[in-house]
Amino acid sequence: MSFVVAIDGPAAAGKGTIGRRIAERFGFAHLDTGLLYRAVGKRAIDIGRGVIDDGVAEIVARELTPADLDQPGLRSILVARAASKVAALPAVRKALLDFQRDFARRPEGVVLDGRDIGTVICPDAAVKLFVTASAEERARRRQAELAAKGEAPSFERVLADVRDRDARDAARADAPMVQASDAILLDTTELDIETAVAKAAEIIEQALSRAGRS
Ligand code: CDP
Ligand code: CDP
Repeated sequence: MSFVVAIDGPAAAGKGTIGRRIAERFGFAHLDTGLLYRAVGKRAIDIGRGVIDDGVAEIVARELTPADLDQPGLRSILVARAASKVAALPAVRKALLDFQRDFARRPEGVVLDGRDIGTVICPDAAVKLFVTASAEERARRRQAELAAKGEAPSFERVLADVRDRDARDAARADAPMVQASDAILLDTTELDIETAVAKAAEIIEQALSRAGRS
């Protein structure tokens, strides 16, 4: 069985950065599952010229290829918003399930980050982390990240996006964002990225040694 690290948490909490760094450190494969929903959201708004049709979103989700996750423009606020709308559709979530479960079977060990990894996609994961930080701190980080890429929304707009998506992600009926009962909470409000990664790495090392894999 593959060694699975599940990282969930709200928007811009540091899930992807921690996931990528952990994957490099332990030689695991990494999947940022938010990219799947972002790719579906982007195609759905492109095809519908700004309007998302549920049926179209489902077809896009079924036809998604790994190359779609590499396209430019997935990180914008507009696409994030579209992603959280299509993510509330059960047919879209179902269409993306096999891709994520297949990825989780990779033999070298895997890190998946998202909202429902520890609860729905990989409920038997060896390590489950729920990474969070205050909404203001997350908005500050996301704004700095977007500014570095040339997109310069106001702090208020980024904070509103973060809060809107958190509320929609937590309220949906299908695979809502929630901390799994056996997940470890990592609040990074006061932590820099190095310290957050070091804490995650320590938890993973302990789990690897329990599994006899270190
Ligand atoms: O994947 P997720 O949306 O949860 O967050 P991310 O894209 O990994 O992180 C958002 C931004 O916050 C990135 O620019 C990270 O480098 C930064 N970050 C930070 O400054 N301090 C942390 N403890 C975690 C992330
Ligand atoms: O990077 P950030 O945390 O801002 O967002 P993301 O992880 O790229 O996810 C974008 C949107 O996709 C989220 O707001 C969720 O609505 C959705 N998503 C989801 O429903 N389930 C996942 N496993 C990952 C993302």
